[in-house]
Amino acid sequence: MFADLYPRLLAYSDITDVDLALLRELSPRMAPAFPGIIDDFYRRALTEPVTRRVLKNADMIARLRQSFLEWLHDLFERPRDSSYVERRLAIGRNHVEVGLPPIFVFSAMGPVRMALETAVLALHDLSDETRRRACRAIHVTLDLDLGLISGSYHEIEKYRDLVDTSPDMIGYCDSAGRIFEANRTLYERLGIRRVDLVQKTLVELSSPESSPQVALLLRGVFDGQRTRAEFRLHAADGEALDVEAIAIPHSDPVTRTIDHGRIYLRDITERRRIARDLLEKQSLVRLGEMAAVVAHEVKNPLAGISGALRVIEESLPPGNPHGPIIEEIVARLLALNETVDDLLLYARPRRPLPILTDLSILIGEAVELIRRDSQFDGIRIGVDAPSMVAAVDPEMLKPVIYNLLVNAAQSLSGIIRSGRDPEIRITLRKQDRLILIDVDDSGPGIPQDHRDRVFEPFFTTKRSGNGLGLSIAYRVVQLHGGRIEVLDSEIEGARLRLTLPEDGPPA
Ligand code: HEM
Repeated sequence: MFADLYPRLLAYSDITDVDLALLRELSPRMAPAFPGIIDDFYRRALTEPVTRRVLKNADMIARLRQSFLEWLHDLFERPRDSSYVERRLAIGRNHVEVGLPPIFVFSAMGPVRMALETAVLALHDLSDETRRRACRAIHVTLDLDLGLISGSYHEIEKYRDLVDTSPDMIGYCDSAGRIFEANRTLYERLGIRRVDLVQKTLVELSSPESSPQVALLLRGVFDGQRTRAEFRLHAADGEALDVEAIAIPHSDPVTRTIDHGRIYLRDITERRRIARDLLEKQSLVRLGEMAAVVAHEVKNPLAGISGALRVIEESLPPGNPHGPIIEEIVARLLALNETVDDLLLYARPRRPLPILTDLSILIGEAVELIRRDSQFDGIRIGVDAPSMVAAVDPEMLKPVIYNLLVNAAQSLSGIIRSGRDPEIRITLRKQDRLILIDVDDSGPGIPQDHRDRVFEPFFTTKRSGNGLGLSIAYRVVQLHGGRIEVLDSEIEGARLRLTLPEDGPPA
């Protein structure tokens, strides 16, 4: 683009081929001034701390002096073709790469300009008009050079924007894992201000169980390897982000040692969730098929055995010692039958039939069942459930609420014995178009590493129950387009939060 533009810009500033021919003609007479200009240029550059920092060593300065001399010759001698323009753009890219702030390029040009003008004005054999024309040509061409050289900074701005808007999180980190550069996606996704993020290490940003993977990633990249790892980051609001990280080592061009790692982080939370859901769906289908077979193979014989035992029991004379034993066997067979029913319910639940339902009534009924159950005597149950209507299947949802309450009540059994205050609170509220039902208990809480697992079938830490209650609740709520999660309760124990869309399950 600049190559096409450059001849037009010369014409725009009234520089003609005649002016350029004049510069070419003056070049041999200007050349003696060049070494002084170059000496002055690098003397200044070495006295200012910022410019001194980019001038790494004597070798570089020697190379630069030569390049600068060529640049001055070009200015006077070279045709203004596309390679002239390319050379200027390349100078700019060099400056960007060494981290030279653009303002120093502009500041350095002033003395060069003045020195060239002084050298032209010292050519007394030329007419005033010729010297004026030569000065004007020098000024214009220097301005255009400045424009091209500094254009690279805009180019870099464009790239910065490209990096900032990348869907991947990108950062640079040192060997301690401290982030010192981050693109916008990284700090926005983590909900941390850029200035705060660059103080933190990757380990601090990730979850404790991810520390070994993060350590491996850093070790790999500072050993000079392109390294890949998967771990979990934590956003400021506590949201967990599963990421796939690729770290690429970067070597200092002068010392050739690895000075930092470039870390590319891709958010794979959604991908993992979909994979998990798919796996869950596939295993549910298999479980459903299995449950149907088990139901057929187990339920019928169970019914037959129970019936036969009842007949035997009835034939026993009153007071026969075998009577209670048969009672016990029948009770166990009934429990077994219930487990098979639960398994069927979990593996093959029916579709919810949503109707507009006042959830406060459902909650009231479930609470009443618990209050009437003597095994939960002594538990205080606080209810904060204003009348609230949502499209749910009441037949399916009431057992879910009951189940959450039973679960909370059972977690309090130790507390009842210890004499502490056993308490359950159930609250119902609306947030945007979502219904939230929180069941809090003052029990021992659910440890972090059990929180995802409590919804797995047959996972239980209790002695009673078949470990399917919460799994069924999870499935039913999922079919309603909602979710259940475990949180910390304000009354010290666990909070199970049920979130439901007000408008019912998605079509
Ligand atoms: C009047 C403005 C300037 C001009 C015309 C100029 C010219 C040049 C040229 C011709 C090159 C070589 C580019 C190449 O080989 O492609 C270069 C690179 C460089 N310039 Fe400048 N420069 C200017 C300002 C500065 C300033 C103020 C500094 C501060 C120290 C500086 C430091 C450097 C460095 C460090 C390199 C890279 C050297 C390397 O990687 O070998 N330049 N510049």
